[in-house]
Amino acid sequence: MPRKIAAGNWKMHGDGAALAELDALIAAAAPGVEIVICPPATLIARMADRARGSAVAIGGQTCHHAATGAHTGDISAAMLVDAGATHVILGHSERRADHAESDAQIRAQAQASLAAGLIPILCVGETEAERDADVTLAVVTGQLAAAVPDLAPDTAGASLVVAYEPVWAIGTGRVPTTAQIAEVHGAIRAHLADRFGAAAQDIPLLYGGSVKPGNAAEIFAVANVDGALVGGASLKATDFSGIIGALSAA
Ligand code: PGA
Repeated sequence: MPRKIAAGNWKMHGDGAALAELDALIAAAAPGVEIVICPPATLIARMADRARGSAVAIGGQTCHHAATGAHTGDISAAMLVDAGATHVILGHSERRADHAESDAQIRAQAQASLAAGLIPILCVGETEAERDADVTLAVVTGQLAAAVPDLAPDTAGASLVVAYEPVWAIGTGRVPTTAQIAEVHGAIRAHLADRFGAAAQDIPLLYGGSVKPGNAAEIFAVANVDGALVGGASLKATDFSGIIGALSAA
């Protein structure tokens, strides 16, 4: 069985005042759920210090594939580890759109993350135009084929998390039907099983895109959904705790 993970993507939200929210999130921990908060880079070290010993892990939102170098504004995987991060979101659609990140770059970032000891939360998902054109499964499995690095089958389940995030569902309040989520998550599991064999059963598959306390239980009841990657509703512990509770009960 994969681990259950509730991951929060804070995007470009939060400053020192948000540390109190982390305390509330730590208090919201529930049995059987791993909580990962991915704040802006400026908060990683402070939040990692504050969360040490709790059920909340801290992650980055991207990293550069190189270890060091002349890359102004970038952060390497080893630097995230040095700051106290254990996870990193890679290939989020906002990175793909705003920074033109390609699957090949995301694969290189994932390899660098694994080498540094970080767990990548690798995002895939179709645009609305791609769903309308009925190419969702081809897009998602194509992204996986190009962006997921080779993994040793015996450690695949512990070293990778995949998040399915339909681009049209992110921040919009629109959510796919449970049948649509089941279809894509089933295809992701099958693709990973082709590459990694039985170990694919242990890779947590998260759904992301407008997950709220009110729809979380329904989403977590879908086959092959092992948790969520949550944007807006992860910023307030009062909201995120409802999602964590639903996952714990699933
Ligand atoms: P949302 O964002 O929950 O605000 O839709 C999800 C994400 O971008 O990871």
